Amino acid sequence: MSLTEQPPEHGTDPNGTPDAAQAALRDRISADSLTTRRDYLRIVATVSGGLAVGGVAVASGILHRHGDSDGAPEPKRIADQILPGDSVAFRYPDEEDRAVAVRLEDGTLAGYSAVCTHLACAVLWRKDRGSEGELYCPCHEGVFDARTGEVTAGPPPRALPKVLLVEDADGSVWAVGTTRSGESVQEGLCRQLAEERPGLADRLGCPGAAAPGAAERSRST
Ligand code: FES
Repeated sequence: MSLTEQPPEHGTDPNGTPDAAQAALRDRISADSLTTRRDYLRIVATVSGGLAVGGVAVASGILHRHGDSDGAPEPKRIADQILPGDSVAFRYPDEEDRAVAVRLEDGTLAGYSAVCTHLACAVLWRKDRGSEGELYCPCHEGVFDARTGEVTAGPPPRALPKVLLVEDADGSVWAVGTTRSGESVQEGLCRQLAEERPGLADRLGCPGAAAPGAAERSRST
């Protein structure tokens, strides 16, 4: 598990989507004759909320096309490895954007903006707080859930935006994309794909994705 979501619980993904729905989505994707194996692997890595080892290329490929001048940010290596209970502070997608990656004791890797949604103080990882650590803002005692980024205490009005992380085969950790506050990984991915690769967004079943034309299909595969 390496995308910035908690593992499925009781048959649902972190966003409440039944496993069966994801399985059906994968079946639909694999059955689509226009979907290449490369895209299928990318999609599986993404919709599973998990990590394909060696998935940096997968994730970067789906979120960023070489030569893009804007849109999805470039992948960025943020650590050689992150051990359970540890955190890494980094900047992403731009140098002024503070972010933090944490590895929970069960191995879940999670990344967030480290800018508090209250008054923009720095959010810190506190391993010794709560049942499995917390993201804590010392300015006004704001607390965010380390698995979801949701506010659990204090005045912050919104969840922390997520930074999408993947772990490569060598254990290195990469930031590959971002979500907005309150947006799930899948929603963030769909939004970026809708802007960058609407054909692929459509095949993923992203809500509101435009039906791709022949040119777009060609571009997306
Ligand atoms: Fe973070 Fe106020 S700035 S709680």
